[in-house]
Amino acid sequence: MATTADELREEVRRRYAESARAVNEGSISGSCGDGSCCVDDDSDAAQFGEALYDAEQRGELPQAATLASLGCGNPTAVADLNEGETVLDLGSGGGIDVILSAKRVGSGGTAYGLDMTDEMLALARQNADEAGVSNVHFLKGVIEQVPLPASSVDVVISNCVINLSTDKPAVLSEIARVLKPGGRIGISDIVAEDRLSPAERAERGSYLGCIAGALSKSEYEAGLGAAGFEQIAVEFTHQVADGMHGAVVKAVKASEPSRSDLPVLQQARGSSCC
Ligand SMILES: C[S@@+](CC[C@H](N)C(=O)[O-])C[C@H]1O[C@@H](n2cnc3c(N)ncnc32)[C@H](O)[C@@H]1O
Repeated sequence: MATTADELREEVRRRYAESARAVNEGSISGSCGDGSCCVDDDSDAAQFGEALYDAEQRGELPQAATLASLGCGNPTAVADLNEGETVLDLGSGGGIDVILSAKRVGSGGTAYGLDMTDEMLALARQNADEAGVSNVHFLKGVIEQVPLPASSVDVVISNCVINLSTDKPAVLSEIARVLKPGGRIGISDIVAEDRLSPAERAERGSYLGCIAGALSKSEYEAGLGAAGFEQIAVEFTHQVADGMHGAVVKAVKASEPSRSDLPVLQQARGSSCC
């Protein structure tokens, strides 16, 4: 059993590598049926993955990209993406949201996908080739340390990944760093009701199943505020377990990050939530 943050991250990486291999081998859709990723059993299938994309979007994608969809929402449906913009998808998996974003921003824009799992990156590149999009770049790295310069991105999206991070304050502060002033986020994630303690969240599902590591609504709001965001909205969309929800997270990077909020960020870093 993973005990340290590094061990937990390695366990996450290993499980998603297995998932990408399974999609490549055509053995099982998303390979989540064993609870190894964001679906704990077949009855959850309508709340995760490809079912969250409409028929028109699915029609724009190679089959392997939809089969590899392991998200808990559809960030491309909530993020405002305009022609010519630069988009970054944190934890891009098989590339579904990067491909859809690349089509939305057009040839004058760029869509980056960032993932730590080689097998997922290979699958995503293959899917992007098959989809015929050339304005995409898949980067290897961790979302706690994004390999892009400061103020280089218009929109950050992510689909069911931040709950898997062992250092959420670092992720939120990296999002703020890479976004241009006025840049925005459109994130899908699992979020807990404030009444649930970290122990109660863990009773409802595993860390690898995207449940135990979820922030509560007010932890998310406080973390985003501390990282320098404003117009913060965390809205539940569908319940995935008692008190746990798929949620849409939106916010805008303030022109000047509020340094007065830093103590809140430090406090969040030390809390049991991450
Ligand atoms: C639940 S899947 C979601 C994939 C994709 N967003 C989707 O909707 O299908 C999680 C993905 O995030 C990646 N991931 C998890 N933790 C990460 C981290 N700390 N840094 C970079 N990638 C990470 C995994 O390798 C995996 O591809």
